[in-house]
Amino acid sequence: MSEEARALVIVASYHHLNTERLACAIAGILGAEVRGPGEVAPDELGGFGIVGFGSGIYDAKHHESLLRLAATLPPAQGRKAFIFSTNGMPIAVAGKALVAGNSANSHGELRGRLVTAGYEIVGEFGCAGFNTNSFLKLFGGINKGRPNDEDLEDAKEFARRLLN
Ligand SMILES: Cc1cc2nc3c(=O)[nH]c(=O)nc-3n(C[C@H](O)[C@H](O)[C@H](O)COP(=O)(O)O)c2cc1C
Repeated sequence: MSEEARALVIVASYHHLNTERLACAIAGILGAEVRGPGEVAPDELGGFGIVGFGSGIYDAKHHESLLRLAATLPPAQGRKAFIFSTNGMPIAVAGKALVAGNSANSHGELRGRLVTAGYEIVGEFGCAGFNTNSFLKLFGGINKGRPNDEDLEDAKEFARRLLN
């Protein structure tokens, strides 16, 4: 496969593996490998035409392991990247648009590091994820079952747009 056509999806997902499910849905459309941040050598990213970076949102940022990787990337010279995440904002109250907005706001730190490394960000995606952080576990958590089938379909549609 040519370098241009190769895709890689890097995901850090530990709370409920919510973002890993998103990563697999996106990777299925792109024909991409899925790896954790610790399974990627920064120097090898030049061998991929497009790289996705995603995790849950923890304290309004992506996972530390992903942010660390993004800080050590060699110059990307305009190669393509996309960003994705799941977050714990209550979708039943906030609705899809606000949850997506929460994602976009929380992508700032990672986005900045990728742009500094020279990536062109060609798309961003975020949706709700099951959240039992802190006191929420006392009530059984919020966003149960998320990402759900509809979220995964939205993620696949996002991936199809990336292909175009
Ligand atoms: C320690 C911790 C901090 C979190 N901080 C936030 C936050 O700042 N904003 C938010 O919307 N969700 C927050 N969440 C909820 C997660 O983003 C959400 O559950 C996500 O889907 C977890 O993804 P994962 O299962 O892939 O790890 C937090 C969860 C944990 C465990």
